[in-house]
Amino acid sequence: MAAAASTANPNALTTPVNKTAHEFDKAILDATLTRRFFFTPAFEIYGASLLANILDAWRKHYIIEEDMLELDTTIMTMSEVLKTSGHVDKFADWMVKDTKTGEIFRADHIVEAVIEARLKGDKEARGVAEEVKEETEADKKKKKKKVKSVAVKLEDSVVAEYESLLAQIDNYTGPQLGEIIRKHNIVNPLTGNEFTEPVEFNLMFESNIGPTGHIKGYLRPETAQGHFVNFAKLLEFNNGRVPFASAQIGKSFRNEIAPRQGLLRVREFTMAEIEHYVDPLDKKHTRFNEVKDVKLMLLPKDVQMDGRTDLRQMTVGDAVAQGIVDNETLGYFLARTQLFLTKIGIDPTRLRCRQHMANEMAHYAADCWDFEIQSSYGWIECVGCADRSAYDLTVHSVRTKQPLRVQQTLDQPRTVEKLEVVTDPKAFGIKFKKDATSIRETLTGMDKERLQCVKDELEKNQSSIVKCADGRSHEITSDLVKINAVTVTEHIREFTPNVIEPSFGIGRILYSLLEHSYWAREQDKARVVLSLPPLVAPIKCLIVTISQDPELRALIHEISRKLRKLGVASRVDDSGASIGKKYARNDELGTPFGCTVDFASIKNGTLTLRERDSTAQLIGPIDDVIATVDELVKGSITWEDASSRLQSYSGVQDVE
Ligand code: GLY
Repeated sequence: MAAAASTANPNALTTPVNKTAHEFDKAILDATLTRRFFFTPAFEIYGASLLANILDAWRKHYIIEEDMLELDTTIMTMSEVLKTSGHVDKFADWMVKDTKTGEIFRADHIVEAVIEARLKGDKEARGVAEEVKEETEADKKKKKKKVKSVAVKLEDSVVAEYESLLAQIDNYTGPQLGEIIRKHNIVNPLTGNEFTEPVEFNLMFESNIGPTGHIKGYLRPETAQGHFVNFAKLLEFNNGRVPFASAQIGKSFRNEIAPRQGLLRVREFTMAEIEHYVDPLDKKHTRFNEVKDVKLMLLPKDVQMDGRTDLRQMTVGDAVAQGIVDNETLGYFLARTQLFLTKIGIDPTRLRCRQHMANEMAHYAADCWDFEIQSSYGWIECVGCADRSAYDLTVHSVRTKQPLRVQQTLDQPRTVEKLEVVTDPKAFGIKFKKDATSIRETLTGMDKERLQCVKDELEKNQSSIVKCADGRSHEITSDLVKINAVTVTEHIREFTPNVIEPSFGIGRILYSLLEHSYWAREQDKARVVLSLPPLVAPIKCLIVTISQDPELRALIHEISRKLRKLGVASRVDDSGASIGKKYARNDELGTPFGCTVDFASIKNGTLTLRERDSTAQLIGPIDDVIATVDELVKGSITWEDASSRLQSYSGVQDVE
């Protein structure tokens, strides 16, 4: 009899089911997902329970487990905030236009698609093309959008150049993409027309706030800024100490240039973001030991810069020890994220951690590792783990003049050399009037190196120019300002925390999970199964009868009531369909367990329990089976545990 393994995942099987009997068929998966309402062709998620269950698992895995502060900040964001964060100036993608039709493409995507098609054509010409698959209707419709490959053999050196170019595709700047387009004669594959030079396109949706429309705002492109502008309150809530983390789940918006990849590239999407604040001089993590043995598939930046994409499997402990991952806190979150993604059902063999190359890093990041998940769309970024250093807190602090800094009492007082700004308040006020305070604050807010330059200039030229936050410059003179070197004893160390940010694109994870969960029974490729783990499956248990007998029907509603009371999402199917059809319908919904009421349930008080992937069945007293389902769903026992608790069921029962 088939039974599930007693590994960490209660749904893992000991008796292997042949999940690879059929090739992956995207058309069948898409048809199933739309028919069963997981999402519509417009890619609004209707399978809201699956989304809610993933978010619930995320909340428990991070917010509760790590004692994070959860936020819910506004979506509409004042332009000042996003100007300060750098998004107004720098949050952009490069686009090119067809010079005749005006059709717009994302520059890196069209270069990638054309080069990939040329490499595919080369393989065809060399006779090493992949087996040609039967073309479905969905494939035919999509063809228009795809770049067709033409069987043309390329020089070996060109193949090598193309492969290297693809390995670094995310690292090119707009001007570099323009050069590649010219050098490799890349034209619009649909029209044969040339492209314009790449130009930047800001990804934020702009809006106006208030009745006059004079206040500019944007729909937030990330939830992160809502954390940073609330940092002072968060720090106070955490008693002025780091490390701690804030977390937020919510919608963000990006005006993507070509949102054609289903749930993977949409303009409105759910993000789950963590901002973990840490001392820049101590990025150790107290719980690192718990995860140091977690294995990651790493693709470091230097490998990509070499034009290669080979992965290195290593423990996060080794990766940090060897300096491949910069610090324990970043390593801790990489390991925890690997654990989260595999817990909800992402296939670990289709998961990799790719480090950003220098040019592809977001403007705020000092280092970044993406969890990329492989699906029929290729390797797609689903989680970004960035070290944002002190970037955001510093820019907001300078702009708002609010000190977003931690004060740490030193164990031992220390003596430091400092520069002190001394002004004659009366003369200074008379000279600079309403600008006096702002000039004084600019001087006192300068770091030591900058202040030393001003001191040197005052000594040499008796004057210096000071630029204030409003952009205006003022000349100060040595008769009004003195900068003195002083020795002070400090009891407090002040620093701006660094931020480590794991940021999750939930829709992308959800879609990848559906692809990874999909397979079809060996006997029929239309018999789709979604092997969603019980943790995230929208419905945990199906309850059916083998006949329409009123007594049996009454019993399934009683069982449903008991499961509801335990908080187990169940679904009664008392339709006239055959039992096989009822199971099949729920296999494609990803329902992991099924309880079947038959005449023995009336006579002997028993219930049978079916496991979705193996179709194995167990039997036992009704209340024992209900308790077992509850524990299976909570993940406190495995199917193997259940199998030792209940009897295996062959399908024959004594009901005479
Ligand atoms: N906050 C991370 C991102 O915007 O992708």
